Amino acid sequence: MKVIRTIVELRDALDVYRKDGKKIGLVPTMGALHAGHASLVERSVAQNDITVVSIFVNPTQFNDKNDLMNYPRNLDADCALLEGVGAQIAFAPEVAEMYPEPDTRVFSFAPLDEVMEGPFRPGHFNGVAQIVSKLFYAVEPHRAYFGEKDFQQLAIIREMVRQLGLRLEIVGCPIVREADGLAMSSRNMLLTPEERTRALKISRTLFASLEYAKENTLQQTKAFVEEAINATEGFKLEYYQIVDGRTLQPVEQWDDSDYIVGCIALFCGKIRLIDNIKYKEVK
Ligand code: PAJ
Repeated sequence: MKVIRTIVELRDALDVYRKDGKKIGLVPTMGALHAGHASLVERSVAQNDITVVSIFVNPTQFNDKNDLMNYPRNLDADCALLEGVGAQIAFAPEVAEMYPEPDTRVFSFAPLDEVMEGPFRPGHFNGVAQIVSKLFYAVEPHRAYFGEKDFQQLAIIREMVRQLGLRLEIVGCPIVREADGLAMSSRNMLLTPEERTRALKISRTLFASLEYAKENTLQQTKAFVEEAINATEGFKLEYYQIVDGRTLQPVEQWDDSDYIVGCIALFCGKIRLIDNIKYKEVK
């Protein structure tokens, strides 16, 4: 696997394959890679000739300086994982390479970015759109892979591709969980052992709510999750929203949509975690 640091080198390397008609897959990440990331890379390796994995902790999407400072970084371990799953190129630029000048572009994804993460993380999705669009321009992939773990991000990336008229396919991939159910996240390693145990309550509550939902209304199910999370010491719930899987707008009743997802964000101690669960999905 090649580790590339600059856009010029990346383009030169990819042009060789592109001329031969090879298909290019891109997996954007911020590193500290785990099996969730690996599942995206494996999917790309299976569907494309060349897989590029970007590793870049993007400063413009962090609305909290401490979060940016404490974000785990380990390029050597990341490269070892990527070798193991068969990626051809790791693109790991410095900040100055991606932002030679401040990015002043302002995106609007209303109403997708006005709900859930939107109000709690002002500027976050604008930063995500800035970096992901730059990566799309640099790599010009045929396909790009994103996890449903970040459900709102995936919907917003699809909308960005539509708005910019880009020619690539966005592939959404299911959440990968630890054996005990906790959604994998680079931030999990920042949890203390006690917090790690407590964090289990998140997925357990979401799974329990799937059962509960069979016999109860949507509003009751929402309250069921909120009450369980609020009753847990050391948790601070930011939101639990049950939304339409496409528009991300809250739904009132189970019959209101054929694609219904519950999305949660909370602080477990100082660490912010997100997760989601599908109550109904169109097939
Ligand atoms: P990061 O948090 O590193 O995640 C990179 C990709 O891996 C995202 O598409 C995310 O949804 C996916 N992912 C993370 N944990 C997962 C899990 N447990 N199961 C399945 N997929 C998972 O998301 C970002 O980085 C950034 O915002 C980025 C898109 C790279 C832009 O900077």
